[in-house]
Amino acid sequence: MEELLVQSAALYAREAGELVAGLMNKPYGIQQKVNRSDLVTEADVSSEKLLRGRIGRDYPDHWILSEESDGANDPFGVCEEPPAGYGWIIDPIDGTINFIHGTSHFAISIGIVKDGVPVAGVVYNPLTDEMFTARLNGGAYVNGERIQVGSEAALGDALLATGFQASEWRPGSGVVEQIGRVVGTSRSMRIMGAASLDLCMVASGKLTGFWHGGLYPWDAAAGIVILSEAGGVVTTDEGRPYRLSDTTLVASNRLIHDGLLGIVASV
Ligand code: IPD
Ligand code: CA
Ligand code: CA
Ligand code: CA
Repeated sequence: MEELLVQSAALYAREAGELVAGLMNKPYGIQQKVNRSDLVTEADVSSEKLLRGRIGRDYPDHWILSEESDGANDPFGVCEEPPAGYGWIIDPIDGTINFIHGTSHFAISIGIVKDGVPVAGVVYNPLTDEMFTARLNGGAYVNGERIQVGSEAALGDALLATGFQASEWRPGSGVVEQIGRVVGTSRSMRIMGAASLDLCMVASGKLTGFWHGGLYPWDAAAGIVILSEAGGVVTTDEGRPYRLSDTTLVASNRLIHDGLLGIVASV
């Protein structure tokens, strides 16, 4: 079943990606949500409509959670965990700011959950035409080629990345402190602006690790399956296995994980 779901998700993600890429150089509406860094465009809404329509048509008994329809502070409502059965967790454009500014680091992210457990993930970057796919115990792939995490074993050799909500950034705040320590300890660091793709970059060995506070399930649901299947590990900042109801995520190639947790946790 999961293999079929991955194939369907990849098909829908490609369709949504083509739609979104086609809108990029046309005029479209942009609305501010909570602040000037929290934006939604007509492309986000159109992508989400397409994805919800395809899933509802082909899998009418599956539940769907998506950012622009369900983006309240508590995405699972009264439940702390995802509901039972199969569910699809969608980010119609992850990296909306990059999309608006014409930077090619954004993606359609589709995670599939069964009885609360993430079982499959698809992340598609329509500008680079990279389709990342994985299902539980089936390995991780980009455009059908197997991927795996990098082999850096020391923080000094690691290229790390993070992201943050604009509201978290002020002098002396946790993320500012963390970045200061990471820059002093690792080879270097990046802030690229699409959590789903950042997780895929760790999965394909282009980044060694990534951490992020304030994430929602749609940012992480697909990428965590891809990363785990590529040999990586995803925990909370306390080192517990990451669950979709957690907001802080620490991801790595496994080898540097304890070191990264040390940097992130000691704020
Ligand atoms: C955002 C991106 C970004 C991360 C933000 C997310 P969006 O998602 O994943 O990398 O730093 O926390 O909100 O709003 O572009 O889908
Ligand atoms: Ca958003
Ligand atoms: Ca997102
Ligand atoms: Ca989004």
